[in-house]
Amino acid sequence: TGSYEHILTSTPKPGVGLITLNRPKALNALCTPLFKELNEALSNYDNDKSIGAIIITGSEKAFAAGADIKEMAPLSFSAAYSENFIAPWSHLANSIRTPVIAAVSGYALGGGCELALMCDILYCTETATFGQPEIKLGTIPGAGGSQRLTRAVGKSKAMELILTGKNFSGKEAGEWGVAAKVVPGGKEELLEQAYKTAETIASYSRVAVVAGKEVVNKSQELSLKEGVEYERRLFHALFGSKDQKIGMTAFAEKKKAEWSHE
Ligand code: CAA
Repeated sequence: TGSYEHILTSTPKPGVGLITLNRPKALNALCTPLFKELNEALSNYDNDKSIGAIIITGSEKAFAAGADIKEMAPLSFSAAYSENFIAPWSHLANSIRTPVIAAVSGYALGGGCELALMCDILYCTETATFGQPEIKLGTIPGAGGSQRLTRAVGKSKAMELILTGKNFSGKEAGEWGVAAKVVPGGKEELLEQAYKTAETIASYSRVAVVAGKEVVNKSQELSLKEGVEYERRLFHALFGSKDQKIGMTAFAEKKKAEWSHE
C-alpha cells in the first residue's frame, strides 16, 4: 500500500494491483496531482514482477467525473500548449504493459470516460453513467475520447454522443461493446468480477500476457495484413520463451503448468 493523497493502492488478490481513485469531494475529478499519483502507481505495479494485472476503480458514485473543470477554467492556450496539458494521461495507454481493467461504477464522464476507454478491459455496473459532456462546457474531449469512443461504437453513434453531450448507461455500454461485462448490483459485485478476471490473467505466463496485450493493441493501429504479420512474428518469438515449452509440455503430460514468467 503506497501513501498517496488522491488514490488508494492495495493488492486484494495474489498478483492483482488495485488502484482506487479517492477524491470524493470532487467525484474523483482528475486534477493534475491525481493523475501524477495514478501514473506513479501504475508504473510501480508495472515494474513489480509479482503483479500480473491491475484494476482501476472509483467509488460507488463516481469512477471519475472528468478532468478538473475548476483547474481548467482559467487555462490559456499558450499554457496548455507549452505544458502539453493532458499529455501525461497517455502514460497508461503508451507505456503500461501489464493489463489494466477499469471497474466503473457511477459517473465516468469526460476524462473519466476517456480513462475507462484507455484501459484494456472495461467492466461496469448496469447503472454506471458514461458520457463525453465537454461540448456543454464549450470544448471537446481532450484525452482520446473522440478516437477511442469512435473505434468502440462506430462513427455515427460517437458523433451523436460527442456533439450532443448525451450520457449513456452501463447497460448500453455493454450492448455497444464498450464494456466487456456489465454487472448487476453495485461496486462490490463489480469488483468481485474484476478480481476474478484479473486473477485469471495474473495466473498465466507474464511473457505471453504482455505479448497478447501488445498484439491486440496493434490491431488498433495497423492494417489487417500488417497486423496479422506482426502477430505471427511475435507468435514465432514466443517459441524462444521458457513458458511456451513449460505450457505445451505440461499439456502433453496432463500436468498443471508452473510458469517461469520467462
Ligand atoms: N471538475 C471539478 N469538480 C467537479 C467535477 C469536475 N469534472 N465534477 C464534479 N465536481 C465537483 C463539483 O463541483 C462539486 O464540488 P462542490 O461540492 O465544491 O460544489 C462536487 O464535485 C460534487 O459534484 P455535484 O454537486 O455537481 O454532484 P451531483 O451529484 O449534483 O452531480 C455530476 C454529479 C452530474 C457528475 C456533476 O458533478 C457534473 O456534471 N460534473 C461535471 C461532468 C463533466 O462535465 N465532465 C467533463 C469535464 S471536461 C473533461 O473531462 C475534458 C477532457 O476531455 C479531458
